[in-house]
Amino acid sequence: MRDLSPVLGTEVEGFDPQSQVDDETWHVLSRTFDDRGVLVFRGIELDAPMQHRMVERLHASGALADSERAAAEGFSYVSNTEPDGGSPYGRLLFHSDMMWSDLANQVPSLYAVQAEQPSTPTVFTSTTYAWDTLPDDLRTRVEDLHARHESGQQGRGDSEYENELIQPQWDRLRDTVTPIAYPHPRTGKTMLYVCEQQTREVVELAKRESNELLDALFAHLYRPELLVEHKWETGDLVIWDNQAVQHGRPYVLGDGPARTLRKIHAPADLAQRIGALPAYAR
Ligand SMILES: [Fe+2]
Repeated sequence: MRDLSPVLGTEVEGFDPQSQVDDETWHVLSRTFDDRGVLVFRGIELDAPMQHRMVERLHASGALADSERAAAEGFSYVSNTEPDGGSPYGRLLFHSDMMWSDLANQVPSLYAVQAEQPSTPTVFTSTTYAWDTLPDDLRTRVEDLHARHESGQQGRGDSEYENELIQPQWDRLRDTVTPIAYPHPRTGKTMLYVCEQQTREVVELAKRESNELLDALFAHLYRPELLVEHKWETGDLVIWDNQAVQHGRPYVLGDGPARTLRKIHAPADLAQRIGALPAYAR
């Protein structure tokens, strides 16, 4: 195992998902996942059921019973070539998937079915590291404050940005309010729990003060030297903790190199619930 940076992420080499993996190995992988927030496996062959099993095993809830599995093997694509692919083009600001819901503790994964080069990377930052390194004045200010996070579909931009930019649409909202200093539900580590894509306001503050505080927190969270890029190649699997790290990406071109990533969340019962959500809320 090789750390991707001092802050987050570990690449696991020599892992064969087709082979029998013993409990001790899963234990080490789960512990590393909780310590590092992102696990990367390169150049593996993985079908959707196997991807489900890997992600489930890393999660504290463990694997599903066989009887539960049959209905739970759905997946989606993030793709600029698949007809129903999500986020087919544009830039994605940093976020945790569905931070505005009670499903944010899921574990997402992406497997590169096809990554023609040059492929737009996925970029990660650590919310736990951001909290640990937050300057004292900011920490004191946010300790008892709460933030509101809103849903929003990533829709198509207007013609000026056609094929370039995905514009958030905020017409059908769902939202939730959480502490800004938020304990991770599984590890208990404190996270700096705001993101540039979905956090709209600090609820206790007036708009201008709220915006200034969020700007300062984002500047800390997204310091370029802390970001870790995953440069996609076909056969890569990346599994991350949806809350301990945030993810985003630079521009993907709709007619650029083919980029198809199979997305699977664990635990799989949550994937079923996600499937039941209206499209705007996914
Ligand atoms: Fe996402």
